Amino acid sequence: MTLITSDIEVVKQELINGGIVPIPTETVYGLAGNIYSDAALSKIFELKNRPFFNPLIVHIKSIHELQKIASEIPEKALKLASAFWPGPLTLILKKQPEISDIVTAGKDTVAVRVPNHKVALALLENLDFPVAAPSANPFGSISPTSATHVFEYFKGKIPYILEGGNCKKGVESTIIGFVNNEPILYRHGSISIEEIEKIVGKVTLLTLKEDAPDAPGMLAKHYAPNTPIFLTSNLKELIKLHQGKKIGLLLFKAKMEDNNIAVQEILAPNGNLEVATSNLYAALHKLDKCNLDVIIAEIFPAVGLGNTINDRLERATKK
Ligand code: TXA
Ligand code: MG
Repeated sequence: MTLITSDIEVVKQELINGGIVPIPTETVYGLAGNIYSDAALSKIFELKNRPFFNPLIVHIKSIHELQKIASEIPEKALKLASAFWPGPLTLILKKQPEISDIVTAGKDTVAVRVPNHKVALALLENLDFPVAAPSANPFGSISPTSATHVFEYFKGKIPYILEGGNCKKGVESTIIGFVNNEPILYRHGSISIEEIEKIVGKVTLLTLKEDAPDAPGMLAKHYAPNTPIFLTSNLKELIKLHQGKKIGLLLFKAKMEDNNIAVQEILAPNGNLEVATSNLYAALHKLDKCNLDVIIAEIFPAVGLGNTINDRLERATKK
């Protein structure tokens, strides 16, 4: 049996006992476990069916805990943490020796952030240890933005899910690493590059070696629904190509006038990209449950969070 609960004390005890509990954050729900328990950390990988080479993000309660996790903090990292924490920014920094190889997948760096969610922060305040928390979805599938999404993925496999409502940001944190103390983008996320660059100047995009991805969030196929999904700048043409099929559309602002479309999900009728981002995964979850033959998504404007939406949609379409 799996219980969706708001009882922080119960969740705390479960984590102290080495258990795994999905917790809300402002981005997506995370599958949390004690970073100082290798048994708990191993369970996270097992539950998610996650490859061992894909490291986890450490969640701390405030910037004051950063030195317990990271051994070197470049000036620009400190600037970013001061500007965005608590919030959806993950920093990749040189790790402290105590941080387990299971968290970091054997790397000498560790990913860390302070989540901006009342319930998550209340829990962290109550714990003597930080938690590692990857998104609470089986490896490769769509990240959960509600306790119900998590329940559908893990019911029967864990005793509790910590309730925290719908995630406000709706897409994962932006990940920034450093080479020679200069910022590198590891993953697009719910803070746009433009916002990051306002604080630290130019940010370089990570170039990937295909066989050994440095941030598997950047793995080609990821965040994918079970229904085949296509991304296009020419909706009409693609709809015509799939004529006769049961089609679902994922659109930015407005519906298409077309009676042959089974379902249409509009992410932001007001054209606001933040609103669109916050609705993206919930819309994908919804479309995936409609028994469609195909989902057709439109390419978003390549500015601000439009880049993050396009990044996730591109990965969702990869075979
Ligand atoms: O918003 C988020 O970041 C959510 C919530 C729960 O906080 N978490 C999340 O975790 O998205 P996950 O595990 O789905 O994605 C973590 C990403 C992975 O792509 C992983 O490869 C990268 O962080 N990562 C972690 N440690 C790393 C490291 N030392 N070097 C490079 N990438 C790292
Ligand atoms: Mg994930």
